[in-house]
Amino acid sequence: MVDHTEQIERIRRLAQEKDVLILAHNYLSDEIQALADITGDSLALSIAAAETAKSVILFCGVHFMAESAAILAPDKTVLLPNQEAGCPMADMVTPEGVAQMRKLHPGAPVVAYVNTTAATKAASDICCTSANAVKVVNSLPDAEVILIPDRNLGSYIASKVDKVCHLWEGCCPVHDALSADAVRTCREQHPEAICLAHPECTPEVLELVDHVLSTGGMLEYVRNSAQPTFIIATERGIACQLRKESPEKTFIFPDYEFICEDMKRVSIDDVERCLNTFEHRITVPEEIRLKAHRALERMLAIPRD
Ligand code: 13P
Ligand code: SF4
Repeated sequence: MVDHTEQIERIRRLAQEKDVLILAHNYLSDEIQALADITGDSLALSIAAAETAKSVILFCGVHFMAESAAILAPDKTVLLPNQEAGCPMADMVTPEGVAQMRKLHPGAPVVAYVNTTAATKAASDICCTSANAVKVVNSLPDAEVILIPDRNLGSYIASKVDKVCHLWEGCCPVHDALSADAVRTCREQHPEAICLAHPECTPEVLELVDHVLSTGGMLEYVRNSAQPTFIIATERGIACQLRKESPEKTFIFPDYEFICEDMKRVSIDDVERCLNTFEHRITVPEEIRLKAHRALERMLAIPRD
């Protein structure tokens, strides 16, 4: 394994000199999680971006995450170290798709998962993340809601709320491809383990697990649990924080290549280059930003637990 200690020190010094806050999603590589100021799930990182006093935010994650930071912190410079890091699910719905759903279900508010583009958020009423989705939907007075773009998260929310939920047919290709058989076999092999899954997994998988949680929710659950062994049904990058926070516990992943290639596109060399060149800057046209900001702010205004 390559020793990144010197490069991490160099990056930390540069970030300090240039007043840069480095955020990293829980799925990033170990070395990037090691150099970040803050690691977390989509909700925690959006809050950190909205609240920072630093003048620059360097986002180690995928495009929609950096875009959310640019929407919430318009006076900051927001940088994404690798422009190719996208999220296929975020591209599965467009503002035209939102308009189509509104036509089919007049009056129903549109709840957009944060894994959407700024333009789609701007066409929506309120955002949610995997950490607060049920709470966001329950905060709405309406009896019917439109949930975009993830049909798996949507059907999970539908199972938890007393509302008619109209779902868009999108999904995360990485979570959607985990089979129920792989989870069943893993549970049979480790009957003592508590099984945690991300709500982007299919309903057939979610039926087999003990708890459905965001990546931040999984970390919190494991931290507070007395159990020693866990089966984790989400991207393997989360193992970095799980092991760091709970080194005495055992984490098992189902037999599946649980890797999001987009999350892994940001390399430590990209981060160093980005700190030196300030490329690539993520901006959102002001007209779209204002509307998308309203949808994100409505979500952030909901009291947290
Ligand atoms: P979290 O908000 O749970 O970290 O999930 C983000 C994501 O992209 C999951 O695939
Ligand atoms: Fe998008 Fe799925 Fe990757 Fe998350 S894991 S960034 S939803 S493709």
